[in-house]
Amino acid sequence: MKKPALNVIVPVGIEGRSYDIVIGSGLIERGDSWDGLPGATAAVIVTNSTVEKLYAQQLAHALSIRYAKVSLVVLPDGESHKSWESLNTIFDHLLAAACDRKTVLFALGGGVVGDMTGFAAACYMRGVPFVQVPTTLLAQVDSSVGGKTAINHPLGKNMIGAFYQPVRVVSDLDTLKTLPQREIAAGLAEVIKYGPIADDGFFSWIEEHLDALLGLEAEPLAYAIRRSCEIKALVVSQDERESGLRAILNFGHTFGHAIEAGLGYGEWLHGEAVGCGMVMAADLSERLGLIDATYSSRIRQIVKRAGLPTIGPRLGIDRYFELMGRDKKSESGDIRFVLIDAPGHAILRSAPDAQVRAVIESNTG
Ligand code: NAD
Ligand code: GLY
Repeated sequence: MKKPALNVIVPVGIEGRSYDIVIGSGLIERGDSWDGLPGATAAVIVTNSTVEKLYAQQLAHALSIRYAKVSLVVLPDGESHKSWESLNTIFDHLLAAACDRKTVLFALGGGVVGDMTGFAAACYMRGVPFVQVPTTLLAQVDSSVGGKTAINHPLGKNMIGAFYQPVRVVSDLDTLKTLPQREIAAGLAEVIKYGPIADDGFFSWIEEHLDALLGLEAEPLAYAIRRSCEIKALVVSQDERESGLRAILNFGHTFGHAIEAGLGYGEWLHGEAVGCGMVMAADLSERLGLIDATYSSRIRQIVKRAGLPTIGPRLGIDRYFELMGRDKKSESGDIRFVLIDAPGHAILRSAPDAQVRAVIESNTG
C-alpha cells in the first residue's frame, strides 16, 4: 500500500541553497523522509547521550536503507558542552572513520547538537552536507532553520561559527512527547517571539491557544511549528547573513544572552533567558514610546503564562552592560536592541543608557 504523503513542507528559498522543512508525525522511521538526499557511502548521526537512548536507533535503522555505513557520535548533553571539545569529538570520529567529503551528517537533537553539527559540517573538508533532525520544540521552530551554526566561547555565546545551511530539516512531532515540560516552555519562548516581531495575528492566536500548546495538543502544536517556520523562512530568505532584517529574530536575545553568559551557560535554559529578555525588551520599547503599556503587558503576560521567568537575575547593572556590549549586534561598543515599534513589527536600534538602566533595575531581582 502506498504510504500517505508526508505532512507539511515549508520551503526555505535561498539562492543556490534552498531546502525543505518537513513537519509531521513518525517521520524519523519513515524511509521516504530521507528520499532525495545527497548520495553518499557514509551517514554520521551526531547526537547527545540523552537523545541517543530515545531516537538514535530508529534513525540509524531508517538511514541504513540508503547509506552503506551509518555511524554514531554521542556527545555529552548540555549547553556547557557546546564547545571546542565537543566539536573535536565530531572531527575525531569523522577522521578515524575515514569519512570522505560526500559524507552526510545528521544532527539528531536540540539546538545544541544542531548548532555544533552544522558547524562541524561547515568545516569538515571545507564543507559536507548535513540534515537537521530537531527533537526539541525550540529546535523545530527556530535553531534548525536558517543555517546559523556555532559553538560558545567562555567570553561569549555562539561567538565561533558559520552560516551554513542544512540540505533538509525533518521535524518529527512525535519526538516532543518525551521532552520535559521545562523544555516545552523554553521552546514556546521562541514561538511567542514571532508574534510581536512579525505577525500580530499569530500573537493573538498564541494567546488563545497557549494552554493547548503547553499540553502538546497535536493540531495547534503542528500549526505553531509551521507558522514559526514560515516566518523564519521568509526572514532568512531575504537576509541570510543578517545584514539587516534577520536581526529581528533576536528579539529578547540581547538581554537574554547576557543572562545566559552572566549566570554561566546551562544555568537558565536559552528559551528561559529569551523569554525574560523579551519582557525586558518590551519594557524598553515602552519606555522609548514605541509601544503602549497594554502591548508591553501582553508580552509580559504571555511569557509568564508559558511558565517562563519574567524577572532576570541580579547580575549588577554594569555587568549587564558589559555582557550586552559583547553581543554580535553591537557596533563599536554601541549596544543595539531589537525593539517592537508596532504590533507585529520590530526594529534594531540603540537606546539611551538611562532607559536601559531603568529596564534592568525594574526587571531584575
Ligand atoms: P538543547 O539542545 O540543550 O536541548 C534541551 C534538552 O532536551 C537537552 O537536555 C536534550 O538532551 C534534551 N532533549 C532533546 N530532545 C529531546 C527529546 N525529544 N526528548 C527528551 N529530551 C530531549 O537545547 P535547545 O533548547 O533545543 O537549544 C538551545 C540551543 O539552541 C542554544 O545553544 C541556542 O544558542 C541555540 N539556538 C540556535 C539558534 C540558531 O538559529 N542556530 C536559534 C535559537 C537557539
Ligand atoms: N535565532 C536567530 C536567527 O536565526 O537569526
